[in-house]
Amino acid sequence: MLLTFAVATAFAAILVAVFLPQLLSPRRRLSSLADQVAVVSGGAQGLGREIVLRLAAAGCSVVVWDVDRAGLESLRTQVEASGGRIATDVVDVSQSADTKLAAERALQTWKKVTILINNAGVVSAKPLLELTDAQIQRTMGVNLLACFWTTRALLPTMKEQPHAQIVNIASVLGHIGVARLSDYCASKHGVVGFHESLCMELADQPNVVPTVVCPGTISTRMFDGIKHPFFMPPLTPEYVADCVVDRIHQGGGGMLVLPRLFHLMPFYRLLPMSLKVLAARLTGVLHSVDNVKGSS
Ligand SMILES: NC(=O)c1ccc[n+]([C@@H]2O[C@H](COP(=O)([O-])OP(=O)(O)OC[C@H]3O[C@@H](n4cnc5c(N)ncnc54)[C@H](O)[C@@H]3O)[C@@H](O)[C@H]2O)c1
Repeated sequence: MLLTFAVATAFAAILVAVFLPQLLSPRRRLSSLADQVAVVSGGAQGLGREIVLRLAAAGCSVVVWDVDRAGLESLRTQVEASGGRIATDVVDVSQSADTKLAAERALQTWKKVTILINNAGVVSAKPLLELTDAQIQRTMGVNLLACFWTTRALLPTMKEQPHAQIVNIASVLGHIGVARLSDYCASKHGVVGFHESLCMELADQPNVVPTVVCPGTISTRMFDGIKHPFFMPPLTPEYVADCVVDRIHQGGGGMLVLPRLFHLMPFYRLLPMSLKVLAARLTGVLHSVDNVKGSS
């Protein structure tokens, strides 16, 4: 009897955790992306590139900020060849002043920005004591501080739009910690906190909708060499980009967790640390990052 009750309660909790966030998120579905202007940071490669290709294919004008000049050039050629509207700018988004100037250039070109996607990211993949000061500062600068610089540069103009969206690409590692990723996990926890504070600050500004995206591992170059635990096969960047652009189309908002199973993270967080370490040891997560080289 008690067991039946416990199983039923756990089942109900799972259903609520997985589906309730979707039901409660404010949505105003966009009929089209054709009149939208999106800025995507770190769009030259990986997930960002897939998002740019989808936005451009849907008729959105896209501005891409990245440090990878060659990647930007090939992306621009690809988008223009299929009739899309794109501008690319070599920008290090960890630098506040550079980002501010890039925002001014974007506004000069397109006159407005309605979607900001904070996607640029790096990983060091080293134990805490092997990280250099510069590596820690780079991870914080690109993954976390850049969200402040880009959002502060574009929020004033986005507030003037009838509908605008700020999409922060965090990670499931914005909710849990993993060995050799102390700087990365701290930066992604920061992105989740940044998103939640932004939601509160914009509570009386319903025309600007923040979304945070928390994917599991994606098969891009970032975590090349990672050992995937059996319960967490990698997501493809194409699939994650489809979900992100679909959420934008739906008007954005809330937390997009992929795969959905990770909506159970709040329950995992309640476990004592000794149990989490044991689980990481048994599932291989404890050493899953040992062969990851990190971003160049
Ligand atoms: N790969 C994964 O498993 C995974 C999982 C969850 C979340 N994410 C997040 O998704 C986002 C995209 O990652 P990805 O997997 O596509 O990685 P990626 O390495 O393929 O792409 C990252 C992009 O960011 C750019 N970039 C790096 N430093 C920059 C800077 N200073 N200024 C501007 N651009 C810069 C790179 O040039 C590159 O184009 C990141 O925020 C990452 O943390 C990745």
